[in-house]
Amino acid sequence: MRHRPEDQSLNRRTPVEQAWAKARARRWVIILLIVAAALYWLVFVNEYVVAHEGEAEHFMHGSIGSEAANGLPYWVFQALPVLYADRMGGEGYRHFGLLYAEPDDDLPIGFSRRVATGVERVWLNCSVCHVGTYRLEADGEPQLLLGAPSNNLRLQELILFLLEVGRDPGFNGERVVEAINSDAVGGNLNAFERLFYRFLVVPEVRSALLDLNEQLAFVGRQYPWGPGRVDTFNPYKSIQFGFPMGSDAIDDIALNGSSDYPSIWQQRPREGMNLHWDGNNDSVAERNLSAALGAGVTPTTVDREAIHRVADWAWDLPPPPFPAPDTIDGDLAAQGAELYARYCAECHGMAWADPTSDTLVYEYDRGRYPRLGEVETLAEIGTDRGRWASYTEEFAAAQNMLYAGYDWRFHRFRKTDGYANQPLDGIWARSPYLHNGSVPTLRDLLEPADQRPAVFWRGSDVLDLERVGYQSDADSAPAEDLFRYDTSVPGNGNQGHDGPRYGTELPAAAKEAIIEYMKLL
Ligand code: HEC
Ligand code: HEC
Repeated sequence: MRHRPEDQSLNRRTPVEQAWAKARARRWVIILLIVAAALYWLVFVNEYVVAHEGEAEHFMHGSIGSEAANGLPYWVFQALPVLYADRMGGEGYRHFGLLYAEPDDDLPIGFSRRVATGVERVWLNCSVCHVGTYRLEADGEPQLLLGAPSNNLRLQELILFLLEVGRDPGFNGERVVEAINSDAVGGNLNAFERLFYRFLVVPEVRSALLDLNEQLAFVGRQYPWGPGRVDTFNPYKSIQFGFPMGSDAIDDIALNGSSDYPSIWQQRPREGMNLHWDGNNDSVAERNLSAALGAGVTPTTVDREAIHRVADWAWDLPPPPFPAPDTIDGDLAAQGAELYARYCAECHGMAWADPTSDTLVYEYDRGRYPRLGEVETLAEIGTDRGRWASYTEEFAAAQNMLYAGYDWRFHRFRKTDGYANQPLDGIWARSPYLHNGSVPTLRDLLEPADQRPAVFWRGSDVLDLERVGYQSDADSAPAEDLFRYDTSVPGNGNQGHDGPRYGTELPAAAKEAIIEYMKLL
């Protein structure tokens, strides 16, 4: 007979029913636990990242993992130009020399996004420092050069701006939320999100920026970096390792180690060369990973696959050809090639005519050019000491402890005694010259140091096709707000790379010929 509950005289469950009820309760607990775990995972663990199909697109906007630890929430990032329109001159992030691949892109080149801890965050990737522009005419459109030094970027000003925001009492939840929901930003946060931003997100950003104020207080003591330069290692010392940066701990020379952004094309032939300006590391993989730390990833947030993708792309990336080939005088360039082979190739390598095409092909053969990828001592090369001094023995030791326990732990960083001889491929797109960008054009570099410009202007991307480099005197450069570069300031010296070995005593005609040839590198 089938058991029917309503037949029961006592309102009591049968043992079978009790077992079912228990099982149901247990099932509920399990479901709740799963929901809680899913929520926890969604909010605190899950990272959602936008994939970019093309390699160039990935380079410009792909995430390398810097957002989780250092990123600004997307909507806060978008609200700052509204809140600080005066401070940013009404031009938004362009004020700091940031570039947009398309005029209405929502993020500048070099910024990527990732959802981390429940909030979409944006922060830096490799391209913020490794994309330049040039123009042939002052009124022409800037042309992007992927992999070239970011000649426009004023990173120090951007950093100082963010530090100021952190200190500004007006940077509070209420005002930020209002700016996010303004028409200009169009954030459309709902009631719940408004509370979340007002009481959690904005206070978190503020406290992170206040911490950064302590770590980067020394940046305010440094001489201006200007466009196209960054202090590579001092911020890294302070942020990653907590090195003391007070005036009693570091002298004025080591404090002012700003250097130009380098090009990152053709990494394959650079494997095994001692590179970075001072030649402190001979492994491309370590230089890439260390660069990622500079962009704000941490050993726990680093997205190694995304970095590999950039690295693979840069491995064989060709340098951009000189953009005005018709202006090159072939005979003069041929004379220049002979002089260059005699004076310069030993240290820098050189390019030869490729019989199968009308271009030259750079030869990086270290058997043939024995000094290529080696370090010249400070006494020999004689250029400014700042960048060299900013990289210390102690710091190298600390770097070699990073990623301890992982296969990719650093072990090739070392303190050197000078600056590195690097290939000069695509050198027309790498001005100003020397590690600190203290010499505006190739032609100036071939003059003895005391005849190079003592003061010049940085920040123009208009090419000087004759002297080769961006225009640098206030008259010929467009009258935008250029940066006055003073070579007498610590870190800015334009001395060195001078004397018979460096071609500075050759007759003017020989110098012209060398420059003509170098346009083809
Ligand atoms: C904040 C700016 C910045 C970011 C972001 C950045 N770099 Fe760099 N990179 C530099 C500077 C500056 C140097 C030169 C360092 C020095 O020697 O002082 C450099 C050097 C390099 C070099 C060595 C070049 C040479 O020939 O010496 C490589 C390769 C490189 N970066 C790749 C990358 C990659 C890959 C990324 C992203 C994971 C990246 N960089 C992110 C500024 C940056
Ligand atoms: C003994 C080796 C040596 C010789 C010879 C030499 N250079 Fe250099 N060159 C260097 C070193 C080292 C640097 C980097 C110095 C620095 O940045 O402080 C450099 C830097 C440069 C740069 C700047 C690169 C950049 O990215 O800013 C150019 C351009 C250059 N050399 C051209 C020449 C030319 C042209 C000649 C021949 C007339 C020449 N060099 C001869 C060692 C050499």
